[in-house]
Amino acid sequence: MPGPPVTAIAHSNIALVKYWGKRPGEDNVPATPSLSITLEALTTRTTVREARADVVRVNGEPVGDTKVAGWLAKMRAAWDLPPLAVSSHNDFPTSAGLASSASGFAALVTAADAAFGLGLDATARSVWARRGSASAARSVFGGFVTLDAEAAWAAAPLLAEDAWPLEVVVAITSDNAKAVPSTVGMERSARTSPFHDGWIRSAAEDYASARQAVKRRDFDLLAEVAEHSCLKMHALMLSTRPPLWYWNEATLAALAVVRELRASGVPVFFTVDAGPQVKAVCAPGHSEPVGAALGRVRGIRRVLRSGLGGGARCVAEPASPS
Ligand code: PMV
Repeated sequence: MPGPPVTAIAHSNIALVKYWGKRPGEDNVPATPSLSITLEALTTRTTVREARADVVRVNGEPVGDTKVAGWLAKMRAAWDLPPLAVSSHNDFPTSAGLASSASGFAALVTAADAAFGLGLDATARSVWARRGSASAARSVFGGFVTLDAEAAWAAAPLLAEDAWPLEVVVAITSDNAKAVPSTVGMERSARTSPFHDGWIRSAAEDYASARQAVKRRDFDLLAEVAEHSCLKMHALMLSTRPPLWYWNEATLAALAVVRELRASGVPVFFTVDAGPQVKAVCAPGHSEPVGAALGRVRGIRRVLRSGLGGGARCVAEPASPS
């Protein structure tokens, strides 16, 4: 007798100290530590139920997602799981490169754990989420989250979302962000960029500064280290052969506006992942004028505003049918 379907939600996250590069092996173990914030407004809702054969749907459409298939194969090496129907809905534009795999794997492992009584605590769910996508390890937790070797590459909560309620403006500069996939890009950077050794060597210091900044709620220090980590990752990407060129004109225009705002005294800093969208991180209460200013930038299609969100969790109501 199959059990009832189980639904979990998880939010996307953005790294303030970036992860770009893996250790050898199959388990998505990062080469460097990272620190992120979980975004309340970008949510994935995933329902898991027993089925006759594995089927994965994202926003109602069946997908032949090899990342999910590979992840399910790893799960089955540890547990005797039946064939699964997985139905995942994002309330944000999936094509816009807003890290749906992070929230997706965090929600999936949370739903699967509850559906099949795997007995995983949040740390174990984080390890399993990481095996799908390393950034997903961080979406298991809310607020400010770390991912490092000391915790055996399970993510861990650093500060709760309501303890320092930063706000984020996401500036969408392109809806068809067809980027080089992160795994391919990371491998290429490690192989070809002359900056790669420096990236690896300098990561621990950025990570330590960012942790201090969060613990002390020191916005200026966090701004400085987060922008540095972001720009250093993009310097690594641009020095890769062939280059990983994720920015467009509107990305640069948005970065210029964020820099001008901060120079004029607005507490805001930028970060950009492996795509063209700009995330402007604001001190509590400052996202409205930042959103308005970014909304006026030529080439920016729209802006989303978000607070910090909680960790992955099961919810009572079922996902909308697909
Ligand atoms: O976990 P992945 O494969 O989605 O890679 C994430 C890479 C960045 O978003 C660029 C940085 C990060 O730490 O999230």
